[in-house]
Amino acid sequence: MPTVASTRLEAFDMVRMQYAYERKVDYDLSGSGIPSMRLSELIGTRDAAEDVFEVPQGYPPVGGSTPLRSAIAALYKGASSDNIMVTNGATEANFVAAWRLLEKGDELVAIVPSYMQTWNLARSWGVETKPLPLREDMGWQFDPEAIKASVTRKTKAIQICNPNNPTGAVLAIEQRKALVDAARDAGSWILSDEVYAGAEREGPRTESLWGNYERVLSTNGLCKAYALPGLRIGWLVGEEEILREIAPYRDYLTLTHAEPCDAIAKFVLEPERRERILAQNRAIIQKCYGHLTEWIRANEPAFSHLPPKAGPMCFIRHSSKASSLEVAERLRKEKSVLVVPGSQMGMDGYLRIGIGLPKEYLHTALDRLNELLNRINAAGSP
Ligand SMILES: Cc1ncc(COP(=O)(O)O)c(C=O)c1O
Repeated sequence: MPTVASTRLEAFDMVRMQYAYERKVDYDLSGSGIPSMRLSELIGTRDAAEDVFEVPQGYPPVGGSTPLRSAIAALYKGASSDNIMVTNGATEANFVAAWRLLEKGDELVAIVPSYMQTWNLARSWGVETKPLPLREDMGWQFDPEAIKASVTRKTKAIQICNPNNPTGAVLAIEQRKALVDAARDAGSWILSDEVYAGAEREGPRTESLWGNYERVLSTNGLCKAYALPGLRIGWLVGEEEILREIAPYRDYLTLTHAEPCDAIAKFVLEPERRERILAQNRAIIQKCYGHLTEWIRANEPAFSHLPPKAGPMCFIRHSSKASSLEVAERLRKEKSVLVVPGSQMGMDGYLRIGIGLPKEYLHTALDRLNELLNRINAAGSP
């Protein structure tokens, strides 16, 4: 497994692994998106998007052009453009929020399994990290009693990913309330990564945590629900004061996002177009999940799963005694299939498989996974 050379940063193992192998294997199931949209598909003819073609290629206003920030603000109840900061992907939004808030000696409570960016950064910076497990037996929700027990006056922030990557679960009303109550009691921040909001396979659109409590920083972007990760457009939603405090951190990181992408993002978020894109992508996710269930019905898989509510991915429990890393490594080496071991998302015993793929491709990769798991189980040991 590749590592980072510097000891000053905890490796983001999943991302390092993807970079190392995603283009080398026959079947890459390590992704968590659907096929990205092309500009030709998005924009069509030049006439349809004169503003995009004619925008000067300079630096855009730091934090986003006013029209783009207004378009984003319209997605959040009670927000104005002053509550929005446009960033380079949700990655930068997550990074600067954590950088501003977390220091050595602080404590972070974070749900697991999850996208481990903030968790790893916190550990790299000497922050004490406490996992708040999502439980499969509770439909991938956390136990409300557990959050009460974990969050204390020392807890600087509680980090969540909602809808969740990798389980695809959406926080239930009881858990949302328990989260806000715990944060309020302790005076903690809530860092809420919401990049899968709008990518629901079924059920209503996931509501942002922003607006539920003053100390919420919510992050999002065009990478998942919009299938436009290459534009590198993300954003932070928060109270004006905290955004003002975060702004200087970007001066040392990227200064700003890209001007053409600011214009394209504004085009994407025009209400009618936005709804069309989201509906199209949700249909793709639903169709891909159909491919998975079709394969499961026709085979006897050596794994079980809870249907994800959102996102083109599935967190499957493998019945083998081998660790998820061992299974994933063998799968890559022996079957040329790449998946994410649950341990890289904070929970062993599971594998994350991306399903946003053509049917034949997905089915062949699942055949290979099944063969390996059956072989491991038949041998009775790793
Ligand atoms: C939960 C989550 N947050 C953030 C990101 C990164 O987002 P972006 O590509 O907008 O930087 C990902 C990418 O997979 C993700 O799954």
